[in-house]
Amino acid sequence: MRVLITGGAGFIGSALAHRLIAEGHQVSVVDNLSTGKQANIPEEAEFVEYDLAKADCLEHLPSGKFDALCHLAAQSSGPASIEMPYYDLQVNAASTLLLSRWCLKNNVSRFLYASSMTVYGNKHASPVSENAICEPIAYYGVSKLASEHLLRLASLEGLNVTSFRMFSVYGPGQNLGNLKQGMASIFMAYLLRGEEVPVTGSLERFRDFIYIDDVVDAWMNALQMKQTPAPIYNLGKGKATTVRELLKTLIDVMKLDTHHPIKELQGSAFDQFGLTANISLAEKDLNWKPKMNLYDGLSEMVAWAKKEIV
Ligand SMILES: NC(=O)c1ccc[n+]([C@@H]2O[C@H](COP(=O)([O-])OP(=O)(O)OC[C@H]3O[C@@H](n4cnc5c(N)ncnc54)[C@H](O)[C@@H]3O)[C@@H](O)[C@H]2O)c1
Repeated sequence: MRVLITGGAGFIGSALAHRLIAEGHQVSVVDNLSTGKQANIPEEAEFVEYDLAKADCLEHLPSGKFDALCHLAAQSSGPASIEMPYYDLQVNAASTLLLSRWCLKNNVSRFLYASSMTVYGNKHASPVSENAICEPIAYYGVSKLASEHLLRLASLEGLNVTSFRMFSVYGPGQNLGNLKQGMASIFMAYLLRGEEVPVTGSLERFRDFIYIDDVVDAWMNALQMKQTPAPIYNLGKGKATTVRELLKTLIDVMKLDTHHPIKELQGSAFDQFGLTANISLAEKDLNWKPKMNLYDGLSEMVAWAKKEIV
């Protein structure tokens, strides 16, 4: 298979690129290196550095025939989307429109998309299923939902689309320098530096943490299908972890003082309180089951982070 990965220098995109190459596939990456790093891209992959928010981005895509496009490039921070909603819409939604048209024109039959649990908003009880009404409360969720709909229209013209509503993905490779995205990596960055951890909003808020390798497994299973039975899948572990529990587990894994200082800050109206995923559809259709538990996953991540810092 020859696969084009946008955002392949980032956390999830580079993990997917490495797995594809390890399994004998060809990979090309397009990324503007805004939050990703060139060092994350496998050496064997073709790399084009370009900004997919630019209207002329299609002229800069790698040439030749592709079997699939995995669109992960995005501005992926909720707070940043509130600071710059127009830019968020350009990077996250306009790029999806352009890339889906490009696939239809160039006979790229598969389009896999990195959507997010933020599309659901704050109204649902956990666990949430894919057929729940989507009412995002931040611009980031709106641009992800807009992308899903743009892809639904492209699918009417024959593009085989799968969107993954990923919950809180964590693990080795997450950008510890990006303090705007990724609760586990943000807290870990402060703890590794021995600094007070700022926590925005209630310690009782919760997230559904899913390990990077489990996420890549689902993408790989879907890539091997000509088309998935459903167009949209939740990818989570299906388990709630409160902010308090996450901090406690991290402190435990890192063998730090249980009274490590924490600073509670005012929450944002744009932040979701908490949601877990009903993953039965992905389990059934993709023959997939997330394996990693939070303690072991965070231990892997801490071991990686310590090496990174050295
Ligand atoms: N990490 C999570 O928990 C999570 C959850 C749900 C959805 N997602 C989505 O998954 C995708 C990957 O997330 P991630 O955690 O790997 O984030 P990341 O920031 O590590 O990766 C995003 C990549 O996209 C690149 N990029 C950003 N803007 C670009 C642009 N205009 N042109 C070209 N490249 C650009 C960045 O340089 C980076 O390499 C994103 O679409 C994100 O919204 C992530």
